[in-house]
Amino acid sequence: MPLVRLDISHVRNLASVRFEPSSQVNIILGENGSGKTSVLEAIHLLSFGRSFRSHKHKTYIQHEQDSCLVFAQLHNEHGRPTPIGLQRHRDGQIEVRIQGERAQSVIELAERLPVQLINPDAFRLLEGSPSVRRQFIDWGVFHFDVGFIRAWRGWQKALKQRNTLLRRGKISPSLLAAFDQELIRLGEQVNGARKAYVERLTPYFLQVLSVLNAELAVSLQFYQGWDSQKTLQMAVESGRERDIELGYTHTGPQRADLRVKSASGDAVDTLSRGQQKLVVSALKIAQGQLLIEMGRPLVFLVDDLPAELDANHRQKLCRLLESLNSQIFITSVGPDTTDFTWADTTDVRHFSMNNGELSLSSKGFQES
Ligand SMILES: Nc1ncnc2c1ncn2[C@@H]1O[C@H](COP(=O)(O)OP(=O)(O)O)[C@@H](O)[C@H]1O
Ligand SMILES: [Mg+2]
Repeated sequence: MPLVRLDISHVRNLASVRFEPSSQVNIILGENGSGKTSVLEAIHLLSFGRSFRSHKHKTYIQHEQDSCLVFAQLHNEHGRPTPIGLQRHRDGQIEVRIQGERAQSVIELAERLPVQLINPDAFRLLEGSPSVRRQFIDWGVFHFDVGFIRAWRGWQKALKQRNTLLRRGKISPSLLAAFDQELIRLGEQVNGARKAYVERLTPYFLQVLSVLNAELAVSLQFYQGWDSQKTLQMAVESGRERDIELGYTHTGPQRADLRVKSASGDAVDTLSRGQQKLVVSALKIAQGQLLIEMGRPLVFLVDDLPAELDANHRQKLCRLLESLNSQIFITSVGPDTTDFTWADTTDVRHFSMNNGELSLSSKGFQES
């Protein structure tokens, strides 16, 4: 599903950027602040409906503009073009269009344009709170298991209602038990799907990581959010009195986590930033591989490739991405950091970014 055309209007310093990317490798070079990350941010917006740099939409809409617009032409698996677009207004309103029709939700974009981002913030997946890793798992499950989103939404709704009841207080365990049936049924579904997904993902992750760095010994452990010896029913039942005391649901899939361990402890405490970046890249590439095997190509965004990576690891990462045969957008400040040989059969396009203007350039050439 490569992007065959991209139109970006009023995203940060990009007043109007239009280009036809390669369906394989795209390299964008330019000075700091020229707008490279903003191009990736625009593609990310078109997939997730949100930026990876800020939760505040006003920050990425160009100053003094009322809205920003990202439009793309996708090639679907049958080679047919599919136009998709997203407009975000300063007042918060969001409009999504797919083939000219207004879409109900940004989720429809994610289905059509799965995007994986590898950037200098990658380590946050290891360092951040469990919710970041739950989001990572759930993104994968969402693409992997068509029933997941429905179960997830139902479970979230049941959980919110239960927490509202608990917060208000004065609820007896027996009354609460009546509310819990749906929570348990859907919660088990969500948990089962996550567990199956992590099991499936793990060998891919280990394989990719061994290619990126054979010495790194890292394992993945899925924590479901409660004692693994118990069913959710058992955990919810035995936790009811405590939930009433606390005023919220303290156990269940909302506490799930993906624990990334190295031989001597949590990966985040023992690995260097560069090694953390490799681990996170391996996680994201593994997710991508699983999708590709399901016949669902995706787009990889690699922002600031040289950050934390030496030449050897940069090359390994790029080789690996190239071998997946998906569409890649790589940004970097200097040509020397992306100057390695791609396969003759790989279509590599070089672009240079100057003050928000993108132009196609010959290999390695960068305007000053
Ligand atoms: N809302 C905005 N409107 C206009 N310009 C912006 C806005 N937000 C950031 N900028 C500017 O846009 C540029 C964004 O650069 P960025 O994409 O981060 O560059 P690079 O990744 O090439 O270093 C910066 O020069 C920044 O000052
Ligand atoms: Mg940048």
